[in-house]
Order: sequence, then C-alpha cells, then structure tokens
Amino acid sequence: MTDPNHPTILIIDDDAEIRYSLARVLGSRQYQVTEAASGEDGVARVKKGPPPDLVFLDIRMGGMGGIEALQHIRAANPKQLVILMTAFGTAQTAIEAMKYGAFDYVMKPFAPEKVLALAANALQAHADLRAVGDYKPTVNTEDYKEGIVGSSPVMQEVFKIVGQVTASDVTVMVTGESGTGKELVARSIWKHSHRANKPFIAVNCAAIPDNLIESELFGHEKGSFTGATVQRIGKFELCDGGTVFLDEIGDMALATQTKILRVLQQGEIQRVGGTETIRVDVRIIAATNKDLEAIVKTKAFREDLYYRLNVVRIKMPPLRERIDDIPQIVDFCLQNLVKNKKARVGKVSPEALSVLTRHSWPGNVRELENVIYRSAVIAQGDAILVKDLPAELRETVAAAAEAAAAAEPVTSTPPFERTLLAATEGAVLAKAQLRAESIAAGAELPLTLERALDFVLMEMSKGAAPILPRVESALIARVLRAEGGDQAKAAERLGLTKAALKKRLAEPEAGA
Ligand SMILES: Nc1ncnc2c1ncn2[C@@H]1O[C@H](COP(=O)(O)OP(=O)(O)OP(=O)(O)O)[C@@H](O)[C@H]1O
Ligand SMILES: [Mg+2]
Repeated sequence: MTDPNHPTILIIDDDAEIRYSLARVLGSRQYQVTEAASGEDGVARVKKGPPPDLVFLDIRMGGMGGIEALQHIRAANPKQLVILMTAFGTAQTAIEAMKYGAFDYVMKPFAPEKVLALAANALQAHADLRAVGDYKPTVNTEDYKEGIVGSSPVMQEVFKIVGQVTASDVTVMVTGESGTGKELVARSIWKHSHRANKPFIAVNCAAIPDNLIESELFGHEKGSFTGATVQRIGKFELCDGGTVFLDEIGDMALATQTKILRVLQQGEIQRVGGTETIRVDVRIIAATNKDLEAIVKTKAFREDLYYRLNVVRIKMPPLRERIDDIPQIVDFCLQNLVKNKKARVGKVSPEALSVLTRHSWPGNVRELENVIYRSAVIAQGDAILVKDLPAELRETVAAAAEAAAAAEPVTSTPPFERTLLAATEGAVLAKAQLRAESIAAGAELPLTLERALDFVLMEMSKGAAPILPRVESALIARVLRAEGGDQAKAAERLGLTKAALKKRLAEPEAGA
C-alpha cells in the first residue's frame, strides 16, 4: 500500500454522475480518489502506475467493458484489488467477476455506508495478506540479542535490565526518544523470555483511530457496529500465551485504558459487542516517547494504569549520549545492507566516521540507519566517504570546524603547547585577579583559574608526560617575560622567594 493512512482508490465508470457520487462518498474518508471515464483509460492508468490500492470498476461501459478491463488490469498487476459495480445482479455476473479475480462486487444503486464498508474490508484484507507475505520467522533470522548493538555503559545497563526481566512476566515500560530502539528492546525481552515460542504482536496505539482500537485489541462480534460484517478476533486473543507490545501507549484513549487495566488485573477481555468473558494470558510491554507522568497529571492517562505498566522502566538513552556506540552501529548497518544485497559498500572512511560521530542525531539510531543506507547506495567505491554523506551533515560539521578554527588563530602551535598556553595565560590572569581582590584565604578559586586547570587536567587525561613540571616551567617563563626578565618581580608574582625561583630556573627543563 502506498501510504497506509491514505489509500488510493481509482473509480472507472463512463457515467459521470456515478463517478461523482462515489468519489464524494469515498473522499469523505481518508482515501485519495482518482477517476477514469472509460475502461481503456482505467487500464492505462493501472499499467502506468503506481497502481492504486483499490479499483471500483463498472461492468457495463461503452467501449471496453468491465470484465475485459478487469482481465487487462489483473494481467498488468495480478495483486490489484478490484471491486466490480453492476446495475443488475445475476449469478452469472457474480461468478464472472470472481473468476477473473475481482475482490467483490456491488450492485447499483449503492448506499454510501455499504460502499465505505466494502472499501474498508477490501483494504484490510489487502493489508492482512501483505502482512503474511512479509512475515519472516524471527527465530530463523539473526538472534535479536545481536540485533542490538552497543557497548557503551548506558546500553550495558539497558541489557542488564532486559536480562533481569526475561525470567518473569513482569510488565515493562520502555521510554525514550523516537528511534532509540524501544521496539527492538521489547522484542529482545520477548525473544529471551519463556514466551519466545508464542507470538509477539505490536500494536501502534497512535496509528489506529480511537473508534477502531478496541476492535483491534479485543476483537468484535458480527454486527456490533456498522461495517462489522464478520466476527473479528482481536490481538489479545490472537496473542494468547505471547507478548503484546503496546507502542505509543500515551496516545491511548481513556476508555481503552480502562480495558487494558482489566487485562492486567484479571487477565480478561470481552469482544466489542460481546458478552462472553474471555481469559487471555499475555505479557504486556508498553512504550512511549512522551512524558507519561505529565499526561497522568493532565488526567488524560489513568494513574492506576500508569503504575500497573510502570513496574519496570527501561529508559533508552538518546544516541548523542552514547556516541561511542556509533562506529559499531554503522558497521552493523553496513553488514546488514550487504547481507541483504541492498548495497555493496561495506566500509566507511575514518573521516566520514568522524563526521558521523559529531552529528547530534535528533532521530537517533533510526536516523543514523537511514543516513548509512542513503550513503551506501550512492557511494561508488568500496567505502562511504565524506562526500557520500548527506549535505546537511557535512555542512554542520564543516561549520563547527570553521568556528573552532576561527576561535584559535594560532594554528602553527602544536596542540599541547596551545593548550598549555591557554592554561598558563589563564593562570597568570587568575593570579592577578587574586591579588587585586585579595580574596580571603580558603575562598573558592576564580572561574578563570578553574577553567585553566580544566585544560591542564584534560591534557593529563590524554596520558602526556608528567604535567606539573611542564606547567610550572611554562608559567615561570611567561611571568618572567611579562616582567621584562626581572627575577625579583617575577618571584614575587609567582609567590616564590628569589632563591627558589633561581633554583627552579637552574633545573634542567622537564618535559617541554
Ligand atoms: N542499539 C541498536 N543497534 C542496532 N540497531 C538499532 C539499535 N537501536 C535501534 N536500532 C534500529 O533503529 C531503528 C529504530 O529502532 P526502534 O524502532 O526500536 O525505535 P523506537 O524507539 O521504537 O522508535 P519510535 O519511537 O520512532 O517508534 C530500527 O531499525 C532498529 O533496528
Ligand atoms: Mg517504535
């Protein structure tokens, strides 16, 4: 389906009035409707593509008739969903229609609700079939534990909690920004739990309209509402023994929340329009990228349900808080792309990798994944280079580098010496400030000196040679220079006796 939220429907009929009224009825819902005034034109449109998600096709038309058009359409696109329209119903037309692969047929004149129900059913069937077609047994694909990459301390914490909750059926709430891997973690819990051989069903509470979500979750009885032409089994019943993943739980309507609470408390559901109480055994994992506590405060989310769901909380850290994981994730994405034959490029240049680690990734791992995919597809050699990365990424990083260069004009000074220079300058400045203000003993160091020390400590952490002699000799040299070589004045400023300064100057220079 092109856009699952806005399916496309093509109406083929030579009667302008029928087209008009049908388009109005269908257009009142989320469908995108187009029209063709003849069989020939309709067939041409399906052939040209992209094919519509559903076709309403009139049987009796001047020129190419409906059955012939249906044959052409199905020849061009065997999966095309077609509903035939006829002014008179006979067994003959019904059989013909179904024989040539129509999904259904409808008699004119038709009631708007009938047309809408037909369209909805057809599209639902279409989606269900596709879901089956796309299904791959997860047990055979790579172990999900390996599907989650990350050795950063924050991710190690996540893995630990995942491991702890797999042994029980405890309800888990996964929170975190969009694209941080909430669903991946939910699947990982399922995969390692004793329910691994039972289904994992994900329901996106934000994507399903409020009036349909209950039917989706709990099912409905035939005739319980307009369009409920057959009984439907809900996800909870289908998932018996398994794990239900309630994604975007913060968007769930209050009425549905009450029913979820009942599942959690009593392990029971009722189909919409039904009276029978059905026992279900499911584990629930919920996820949200919203601030659920805030929603509870506004009373749009039940507090009791919140506590029921929030027994164990897994907070997915944003990617910018685990940049050390980026190289691994990139590698993992590339390997997958190559394995699935979506790209040939399996490597990334160190420069490109460095650009990737400097981006802030508001869309988190999903954004990174997309960038890798895009870049791998356009890369020509056997590695992704900086030029292959999206322009926005290259620009932000280039701008940052430029700003850094502008702030530090002394480019010829080697990095360590530059840091030291900044540090000693800061220290000298701070010392002057100290004297001027004659700060009471024990007072905190001024900010500038703290900053200078930060620089020095930063150098130390890089494992350079012992830092104190280097700092000291650099500071002495600077102060001496500032005092025009006057050792007495320099000693005074440094807080040393003249003899002590002389002794230090006589020592062979350490390090620097
Ligand atoms: N640690 C990871 N290692 C490898 N791939 C990851 C990792 N985290 C996320 N991904 C991948 O990133 C994509 C987004 O992950 P997922 O769908 O689980 O995120 P989400 O938090 O549910 O996002 P949203 O809130 O948008 O639904 C998926 O393709 C997933 O496989
Ligand atoms: Mg998700």
